Amino acid sequence: MRAVVCDSWREFDDLEVRDIPAPPLRPGAVRLRVAAAGVSFATQLVVAGKYQRKPPLPFVPGTEAVGTVLESAPDVADPLPPGTRVFAVLDWGAMAEEAVVDTIHVVPVPEGLPLEPAVAMPISYPTAAAALLWRARLEPGPEGEKPWVLVQGAAAGVGLAGVEIAKAVGARVIARCGAAKRDVPEGRGADAWLDSAEPSFRDAVRGITGGSGCAAVLDTLGGRAFDEGLRCLGDGGVLVTIGYAGGAIPQLGVNLLLLKNIGVAGLNWGTYVGWSPKGSDGGDNRLQHAPRARALWAQLLAWWQQGRLRPEVHAGFPLEGFREAMAEVRGRRATGRVVLRP
Ligand SMILES: NC(=O)c1ccc[n+]([C@@H]2O[C@H](COP(=O)([O-])OP(=O)(O)OC[C@H]3O[C@@H](n4cnc5c(N)ncnc54)[C@H](OP(=O)(O)O)[C@@H]3O)[C@@H](O)[C@H]2O)c1
Repeated sequence: MRAVVCDSWREFDDLEVRDIPAPPLRPGAVRLRVAAAGVSFATQLVVAGKYQRKPPLPFVPGTEAVGTVLESAPDVADPLPPGTRVFAVLDWGAMAEEAVVDTIHVVPVPEGLPLEPAVAMPISYPTAAAALLWRARLEPGPEGEKPWVLVQGAAAGVGLAGVEIAKAVGARVIARCGAAKRDVPEGRGADAWLDSAEPSFRDAVRGITGGSGCAAVLDTLGGRAFDEGLRCLGDGGVLVTIGYAGGAIPQLGVNLLLLKNIGVAGLNWGTYVGWSPKGSDGGDNRLQHAPRARALWAQLLAWWQQGRLRPEVHAGFPLEGFREAMAEVRGRRATGRVVLRP
């Protein structure tokens, strides 16, 4: 099969597309014909050996795929029929014509949802949902009042998902992103917009929220945006740190949390899909977390059925176009997801 291959730790642009043997089917797994694989910023860190988790070399990068079922391992109970359209989260291996995935991480794509945009379902949507629902415990206020949520990178993969999820739970959204992409979060119902070219935004948020501040900040950026974001929280508000696309890993004087009655929480979706090597059972805990992950995917698909989520692909490239695909992400042009089409 054709695949993007990583032979040694290197820059993403130095990867190669080659013919390699298809991966063997293993117990508990499904073989997919990959229709599209997500291209994300973090893949650059993985192939450079700078991610918290290092696949064994050589490997095929890519952790998000949509495609159709080719076959299931003999031990799989209730196997999905060949041809079933699915999305899947992988340890690695998505940027290839075929991929082998644990059945617990394969979810059928409902009729009516086009296959390619569903590539936002394995990681982008559940990351935003887990951050806002599990960590920030976002919900309507006691009198039905609508809490404010500030979303960073609001036109990109995780941020745009965050805009839709915050709206789905009845919040009001302040979307912060580049001016050229302003209409993207606004098209998903964002109530206010802030230009990400303007580094100070605490006063603007205070004005928009009538002084009350935000109940939650979805922080994909880190750096200065983290410091400013903390100062946008209202009483009891929580900033969820999920990435550092904008710069440095922030440091925090925790007295600010005490003085302002606010919180900071972290969300690593990878933990819930088996990417953390040291679970309590000595393994990676993927089986233990699978019911919770699958329940979240079911909630997301229910919201899609209700018209509350609108996953979208920004651009698609053939496998050989992997450099151009990553350049779209790196260049901050992507609205929604960028994919490779093996
Ligand atoms: N914790 C988790 O479980 C988890 C899961 C998935 C992703 N992540 C992380 O979350 C972050 C966002 O993911 P994503 O898929 O939404 O990423 P993305 O598509 O690459 O978007 C990142 C956005 O950040 C903004 N940005 C600001 N400064 C930037 C800079 N110096 N370089 C690049 N972008 C910059 C850009 O928005 P504007 O141009 O509009 O300002 C860009 O669109 C990434 O760091 C990713 O690794 C974490």
